[in-house]
Amino acid sequence: MRLMHVDASPKSLHSNSKMLSAYYVDLLKQQIPDLEIDYLDLSVDTPPHVSGDFAKATYTPATERTDEMKKVLEYSDKLCARVLMSDMLVFAMPMYNFSMPSSFKAFIDNLVRTNLTYNFLADGTTTGNLTRQKVIFITSRGADLRPGLSPWSHMDALTPALRSPFAFLGVETPHFVDAQPLQFSDQLAREEALKRAYGELDIVAKEWASQS
Ligand SMILES: Cc1cc2nc3c(=O)[nH]c(=O)nc-3n(C[C@H](O)[C@H](O)[C@H](O)COP(=O)(O)O)c2cc1C
Repeated sequence: MRLMHVDASPKSLHSNSKMLSAYYVDLLKQQIPDLEIDYLDLSVDTPPHVSGDFAKATYTPATERTDEMKKVLEYSDKLCARVLMSDMLVFAMPMYNFSMPSSFKAFIDNLVRTNLTYNFLADGTTTGNLTRQKVIFITSRGADLRPGLSPWSHMDALTPALRSPFAFLGVETPHFVDAQPLQFSDQLAREEALKRAYGELDIVAKEWASQS
């Protein structure tokens, strides 16, 4: 059983999202003895942004790609292989300006690849290839954007921005554990937010472990 653990917070210490994802992965390690971990810190190994050369190479059929095009796609090819060979995907990140850190957007842009992570079908529709992976998004937010509980909830552009590309890749029912509010609130509200997030992670970890 292989798990890919991806962190996107640039903080090395005191990162809420890193702390929560490490807790989650530790829980799984305790419950799944043969778990192999593939760790990626996007603040250390940051995926390249889409360039003009990338845009051309990615839509050129694999058999027609020049050596230069193959080189441009090298990082993305390796990233797709790492994700495809994983059984579980743990993605953790802070909310930045109501959406995701740019490093995670670059991660997605390198991951959505024709004939690798999704395919075009004869009838013109597409099918995603990440159908067997279990996926959890662990997000940390300074404000409280919980639906129905916060005047800020309609500003949450992070959840749909994660849901859509991964649904396109075949991830139909990802888990979301959103720790909030962790910054723009009093101490008690922060502590309660973390407690809620840990409780939710305990439940999802049990579910994953029982199905593995
Ligand atoms: C550049 C920047 C932008 C942020 N934008 C938001 C935001 O739009 N909404 C929000 O609720 N919190 C925002 N925050 C707060 C972080 O999401 C929050 O502190 C989070 O817990 C940080 O997670 P981390 O410790 O894992 O890095 C922002 C923080 C930074 C540094």
